Amino acid sequence: MRAELEVLLGNLRALKNEGTTDVFVSEEALETLRTRVAAAVRENAATGTRVADVASAASVRPTPSPVSSKKPSPHSSPRVSPPPQQNLRAPDPEPFPPISFDEIVSSKPTPAKSVPAAPEKKAPSFDVSVSKARVAAVPATGTNAERLDALRTQMLGDPICNEHLHKGKHLVFGEGNAEASVFFCGEAPGAEEETAGRPFVGPAGKLLDKMIAAAGLAREQVYIGNIMKWRPELPTLYGNRPPTPEEMAYCLPYLAAQTEIIRPRVIVALGLTAVNGLLGFDPDRRIGAMRGKTLDFRGIPVVATYHPSYLLRNDSVKSKRAAWEDFLRMMEIAELPISERQRNFFLPKK
Ligand code: URA
Repeated sequence: MRAELEVLLGNLRALKNEGTTDVFVSEEALETLRTRVAAAVRENAATGTRVADVASAASVRPTPSPVSSKKPSPHSSPRVSPPPQQNLRAPDPEPFPPISFDEIVSSKPTPAKSVPAAPEKKAPSFDVSVSKARVAAVPATGTNAERLDALRTQMLGDPICNEHLHKGKHLVFGEGNAEASVFFCGEAPGAEEETAGRPFVGPAGKLLDKMIAAAGLAREQVYIGNIMKWRPELPTLYGNRPPTPEEMAYCLPYLAAQTEIIRPRVIVALGLTAVNGLLGFDPDRRIGAMRGKTLDFRGIPVVATYHPSYLLRNDSVKSKRAAWEDFLRMMEIAELPISERQRNFFLPKK
């Protein structure tokens, strides 16, 4: 049960990190969740440990029963593979007021005072025994492509990266133009990526390709990488979870070396997890507050935007325009030409 809750929490955190504030579940699933969370809380009270930091995850609202027959919006990646009764889908107009996880937790049958005090916020709780990758100095001479190749060879031989790799799958170093002005930085490979050994090749990647094309660039002209070089492990084969701060800190030296070699004009951080990976984990950080600012990663300007997976689930014109405005800022920083038509993408026609 603990593992199931952790998986669910991982999925909810991933959604939240991308900007999702509400998910939908059936009344039946909500009841199951209440029972399980209450049991976990009792278990915690008995053992003096805290299992599920459910409280700050996305809010949940019940769907009408029977479960809505509305076709769920397309999922970007196998990030969320909910059991059928969870019916997680993108928010759309529906009549039920949101119920937050705080309320679910506070509906626990045991008195609040019997629950041991726990830190207000905490990082995802998957433990990995990693400290920091010791990236050997990448050759100072040679072309950028040669230097990236040397770094890639190092990473492919990294015992920690390999230890966490799913059987038969691949590490994902990153790919693209070694002289790129724009470096797109995601969080971690998903199922398609660890199978292909390439970043952003699943549905989120297809959308990213379209966004890159809308900016007048081809995928081959930019560089695409992730903070994490392996797909974060899960106790089950389905779903994804965001990488832990420790995992990201382990992989960061590789990402830092990649950006050091390429020296792009701008890094686009795709989603809050990528921002946290670049700037250091901050549980209070919100993607909305990061957008519209020019952040900094080791002297390189960083533009934060929504993760393409989030945009696949929330494909309103408003969210598309918001992401597009981030892209326009990226284009300005990278000194790419911007046409009047591009400036007006997703604005109402005059
Ligand atoms: N999501 C990411 O953050 N990175 C990928 O490579 C794919 C999906």
